[in-house]
Amino acid sequence: MLLAPIAVLFLPWLESALSLGLGGRNMWLIKQKVLQSQERRVQKYFLKNYKILPMFGGMTEPKEGLFPQPLDHFNRRNNGTFKQRYWVNTELWEPHHGPVFFFIGGEQTLTSYSVLAGEHVDLAQKYKALLVSLEHRYYGTSINPDGLTNRNIQFLSSQQALADLATFREFIGQQYNLTRNNRWICFGGSYPGSLSAWFRLKFPHLVFAAVASSAPVRAQLDFTGYNKVVSQSLSNPVVGGSMKCRSAVASAFSQLDGILVGSNTSRLEVDFKSCQKLNGSDDRVEFAGNLADIVMGTVQYNEEVPGRNIANLCRIMTDQKLGSVYQRLMVLNKDYMDSMELQCVDNSHQNALANLRSTEVKPYAMAERQWYYQTCTEFGYYQTCEDKSCPLSRWLTLQFQVDVCAQVFGIDPGSVQGAVDFTNDYYGADHLASSHIIFVNGDIDPWHVLSVLKNQSHSEVALVINGTAHCANMLPVQQEDLPSLRQARQKIDHQIGAWLAEEHLSSW
Ligand SMILES: *[C@@H]1O[C@H](CO)[C@@H](O)[C@H](O)[C@H]1NC(C)=O
Ligand SMILES: *[C@@H]1O[C@H](CO)[C@@H](O)[C@H](O)[C@H]1NC(C)=O
Ligand SMILES: *[C@@H]1O[C@H](CO)[C@@H](O)[C@H](O)[C@H]1NC(C)=O
Ligand SMILES: *[C@@H]1O[C@H](CO)[C@@H](O)[C@H](O)[C@H]1NC(C)=O
Ligand SMILES: *[C@@H]1O[C@H](CO)[C@@H](O)[C@H](O)[C@H]1NC(C)=O
Ligand SMILES: *[C@@H]1O[C@H](CO)[C@@H](O)[C@H](O)[C@H]1NC(C)=O
Repeated sequence: MLLAPIAVLFLPWLESALSLGLGGRNMWLIKQKVLQSQERRVQKYFLKNYKILPMFGGMTEPKEGLFPQPLDHFNRRNNGTFKQRYWVNTELWEPHHGPVFFFIGGEQTLTSYSVLAGEHVDLAQKYKALLVSLEHRYYGTSINPDGLTNRNIQFLSSQQALADLATFREFIGQQYNLTRNNRWICFGGSYPGSLSAWFRLKFPHLVFAAVASSAPVRAQLDFTGYNKVVSQSLSNPVVGGSMKCRSAVASAFSQLDGILVGSNTSRLEVDFKSCQKLNGSDDRVEFAGNLADIVMGTVQYNEEVPGRNIANLCRIMTDQKLGSVYQRLMVLNKDYMDSMELQCVDNSHQNALANLRSTEVKPYAMAERQWYYQTCTEFGYYQTCEDKSCPLSRWLTLQFQVDVCAQVFGIDPGSVQGAVDFTNDYYGADHLASSHIIFVNGDIDPWHVLSVLKNQSHSEVALVINGTAHCANMLPVQQEDLPSLRQARQKIDHQIGAWLAEEHLSSW
């Protein structure tokens, strides 16, 4: 009786671990690893803290559902629909006055844990909230079988996604007989963090407040700031970095670049275990990008996978016993490959393009094609290294990354800047002029520079956490949490409490 429901809770993608196949860049592998590790942590936390509660004894929750969503909210002559997946957990809810905590899905599969554990679930227990979550259109299973063709992917956008949130909110309202007393508060991290803020901005009549964690609300074509933070974080002693570490990384990549401009790269192929010979300059960029990903991924997700952190990276990169900086970079690469169980690294640009061009729907794999499409049509966010302060490879250029928009989707690279400008005009970049929003960021996380970092008004609040990486506050509490993180969680809790108390006085 107690064991059966747990089996149901196991995640399908834990089984398909690292089945990403050819063409996945290291960053996507790292991201997948982080997600798996977070799911395990969330699962452990849930079993420890909630499973024992009598209300979860029966385990009728969470409910998973599908509902028909219009494919194009902005053209009613298109009658196409897709089935969008959602979860509901009523166990903690007090129906008459309890709020609704809405977890917004993003650029990957969502799971039942979206309503079972995390900061918002701990808050739901305190505020007796109904928990609901919605998978993002075109990700996970919320996509039609022919959805990824160049023609059909056109209905993937943040504007369509926000309209999905609005219809979903009405749908849940009817299903659960919600009234104005049941205030909605939405939560999201990373891109869904932006959606969370934008949902409140564009639909204030539907959602009472928003928590936006690590939300890059300011779109940017050439995201040079990303590697500026990588550089700062590598030299930040709070997380085990040092100036020595930063300069060792910079000098290793500069040596690498020196070899990459030469005609003979066979030494690199052997030393860094490339699956194939580097064919032309495109493969050299992939090679440099894959090595840079190890550093960028370690910083972005510092401490989010046990043992993977800046301190460990810096220990390797500053250890003279390991030889030259070039040799230390080889050790770092080997250490990364072992942790991912990789035999070799795929540096073929042709393979990368083939992977991005594939229109096969794989619900539990990483969704590079969809996300790349959103960068070409809305956000840019290309992590480049052309700026002098960047400690990684100069081969990471803007041109290379926008050219992929043309190679994969036939999108003119020259049009991407206009798309980014429109996104910022449409949402207000980092000056949203909204209310009841909490922006939470960690200063180690390279994405924080595109978010809101200063209090905008008494009800548009920014929290910057000293020493944490991407979305750290959203995970369940653990013993190792930094005091700064604990304090931020408390502030979020108090702010939500204050806003929910305020609503009883004024009606909306
Ligand atoms: C959808 O529209 C097409 C024409 O655009 C029409 O043939 C079809 O019957 C419509 N389907 C429904 C369910 O209304
Ligand atoms: C909502 O109200 C209807 C009619 O009053 C009732 O039949 C239904 O059970 C209610 N649903 C929930 C989830 O309370
Ligand atoms: C390339 O360099 C390797 C050693 O790094 C050497 O063994 C090989 O002969 C070189 N190939 C050419 C074509 O020069
Ligand atoms: C090498 O790259 C060229 C284009 O630069 C491509 O046409 C060719 O197919 C590639 N060869 C292999 C073996 O991938
Ligand atoms: C914003 O204001 C809150 C108090 O409302 C404070 O705790 C927080 O530190 C402020 N954030 C910044 C970035 O100054
Ligand atoms: C972050 O915390 C460390 C101590 O852990 C402190 O030395 C440092 O000054 C703090 N940084 C900021 C920006 O507050």
